[in-house]
Amino acid sequence: MNTLAPAPQQPPPRSAAEPREILRFLACGSVDDGKSTLLGRLLHDAGLVADDHWDSVLQESARLDKTGGLPDYSLLLDGLLSEREQSITIDVAWRYFEAGHRKYIVADTPGHEQYTRNMATGASHCDAALLVVDARRGVQEQTRRHLSICQVMGISHVAVAINKMDMVNWDKLAFDKAKNAIEHFCRGAGYPLPVCIPVSALHGDNVFRRSDRASWHLGQTVFGFIEGVDIPAPDRDAPVRIFVQGVIRPDQSFRGIQGHVVSGTVRVGDSLRILPSGETAFVERIAGFDVDIDSVSAGLATTIVLDRNVDVARGDVLVSHDRCPMVVTDQVEASVIWMDEAPLLAGRRYEFRLGSATVPANVKRLMHRLNLQDPHEEEAVQLDRNDIGRCEISLERPIACDRHVDQPESGVFVLVDRISNATCGAGMITAVETRKVSWQDLEVDKLARSRLMGQSPKVAWFTGLSGAGKSTLANAVEKALYSRGLHSYLLDGDNIRHGLSRDLGFGDADRSENIRRVGEVARLMVDAGLVVLVAFISPFKRDRQMVRDMFTPGEFIEVFVNTPIEVCEKRDTKGLYRLAREGRIPGFTGITSPYEPPEKAEVVLDAGLESVDACVAQVMRALGVEAR
Ligand code: ADX
Repeated sequence: MNTLAPAPQQPPPRSAAEPREILRFLACGSVDDGKSTLLGRLLHDAGLVADDHWDSVLQESARLDKTGGLPDYSLLLDGLLSEREQSITIDVAWRYFEAGHRKYIVADTPGHEQYTRNMATGASHCDAALLVVDARRGVQEQTRRHLSICQVMGISHVAVAINKMDMVNWDKLAFDKAKNAIEHFCRGAGYPLPVCIPVSALHGDNVFRRSDRASWHLGQTVFGFIEGVDIPAPDRDAPVRIFVQGVIRPDQSFRGIQGHVVSGTVRVGDSLRILPSGETAFVERIAGFDVDIDSVSAGLATTIVLDRNVDVARGDVLVSHDRCPMVVTDQVEASVIWMDEAPLLAGRRYEFRLGSATVPANVKRLMHRLNLQDPHEEEAVQLDRNDIGRCEISLERPIACDRHVDQPESGVFVLVDRISNATCGAGMITAVETRKVSWQDLEVDKLARSRLMGQSPKVAWFTGLSGAGKSTLANAVEKALYSRGLHSYLLDGDNIRHGLSRDLGFGDADRSENIRRVGEVARLMVDAGLVVLVAFISPFKRDRQMVRDMFTPGEFIEVFVNTPIEVCEKRDTKGLYRLAREGRIPGFTGITSPYEPPEKAEVVLDAGLESVDACVAQVMRALGVEAR
C-alpha cells in the first residue's frame, strides 16, 4: 500500500514483525531547496502515483503556473492544507511508500531555522537522512546544522542531494564546491563523509534514474542511496529494555505492569531486573489483547505479570540482566541540540525525560559548543537556540539509562522547561558516570536542630533591582528576628561577590551560577536550622525557580522588593546607574540587562511607598513570626 498523505504527527511505532523491510529516512532541506519536489519526483518516477492523483496534480500545476509549464511535483506531497497555504512544510509529516524490495517511511521535516526542533524529532526515529541543498546557494549554516543533528541523533547513513543542477548548467565545479564545503565541515567536526549526489528534482535527473547530463558523476542516484542503506537485522537477543508506563490492578488477582518494549524480546519464564531499584522477578504471564502470549518484542506495548509483588512504578525500566547491563546513574554527559528561545546555561534546572522517567536535572557544566562556521568545538558559557553542544547533566535522582552507542532507544532524552513545559533540548547520552556518592543520613537533623533553637528554619529571598532596598529591608528584618531571640543569617549580594562568588561577573551565565551557589548555601543554613535572609538582584525567573525547588514547600519565601526603576535610579546610592547610563557598566540590570519580576512572590513590598516597619512586619508574618 502506498500512502502519500502524511500520517498524524506521531512517529509510527516500530513494528517487531517486519522491521527489516522498512527503512525510515529523514528528508530535510530549506524552504526553497526543492525537498518536496525531490520527494514528489521520487514517488512519481518510482511509479507510485495513481493516475487520477497525477491528473489532479497536472491541473493544479497548470492553475498555479509556477514551474514553467512542467508538473509541480511538490504538489504530490501537499497533504497538509496549511503547508500548501504557506508553501512550506510546517511539521514532521510521516509518509509511507513501497518501492523495489522494501517499504519506506519518510520523516519529511521542514528546513527552516525555527523548525529545527521538528527536524531533531524526525531524526531521532530514522536510520538514514537525505539533505537537500540548492546548487546555486551552496552549503548554508542550516545545512551544517542538519549534518550535525544527524550525527548527534546517531544517523550513520547520510546523503546530500545537490539540487537544481540544471540551473547551473550541470557545472561540475558548482557541484564540487558544494561537496567540498560539506566534506570540509564534516572532516573538521569529525563526522563521516556523506554521499553527495548532483540532482535536478524538477527534471528527474539522478533522482530515480541516472542522468547522462552529469556523466562525470559516477556515484549513486537518490533512490540508489536509500535502496542501498542496510538496516542491521533486528537482534532478537538484544538486551531487553521495557519502559514502565504504569501498573494496573483491576482486581486482587491481577497486577499487570504496562510498558513499552524498546529493545529485545521478553519471554514467559525470563528473569527481569527492575531498575533503578535492582530487584528481580520472573515473568509469569504476558497478557495479549485477549489471550496470553509467550513472548513480546521491541516496538510493542505490553502488559507483564511478574511472579512476585516487587515495587514497580512508572519511570522504571525492566531489563534482562545479561550482557550490556543498563546503568543506574545521576550523572550523564550528553550531546545536546538546544531549541529554546532562552539559552541553556550551566546551573539551570530542567526536567529530564528519558523513556517514561521524568526527573529534575541541572546542567552542571557546558563542556563546549560546536562552531558551525569553521567546525571545531569551542568553549562557551551558553547554548543559544539551534546551537549544538556537549554538557554534563546532574539528575536529582538516579535513573536507568544507556549510552546512545550501546542502546540508542534508551540513550536519548529531552530537556523540558519546568515553567513553560516546552521541550527545549534534545540529547544523546555519550557517557555515564557511575560516581558512587551517596547521601549520608545524619542523626542530628534539621528537625532536631530547629527544635533546639525553638524556631522553624526558612529562607526569605529578597529580589529586586539594584538600589531597590533589598539589603536595607533584609537588614531590618534580621534586626527584628534578633530582637525576638531568633537565629538568623543574612546573605547579601555585594558581600558574597567579595568571597564565594569572587570569580563571577554579571553575564547571564555567571548570574545564574551566583544564584545557584547562594541557593545551595541558603539550603545548608536552613538545614542548620537558621532563618536565612538572602538579598540578591536575582533577575531571572528560572534561577529563582531553581532555588525554590531546592527547598521543601513552605520553606522558601520570595520577597519582591518592587521599587520602580525610576526611583532606584534617582536614589542611585552607589552611583552605578549613572555609570551604567554612561555605558561604563555593561549588562546593568534594568538598563542593559533584563529584570524579570516575580509573578507569584509570597510577599510584594512597595518599598517606595510603605515604611520600613510596615515592610518588616509583612516579611515577619510570612516567616510565621509576629513582629514586635
Ligand atoms: S545578581 O544578578 O547576580 O543577583 P547581585 O545581587 O550579586 O546580582 O549584585 C550585587 C551588586 O553588584 C549589585 O547590587 C550592584 O551594586 C553591583 N553590580 C555591579 N555590576 C552590576 C551589573 N552589571 N548589574 C547589576 N548589578 C551590578
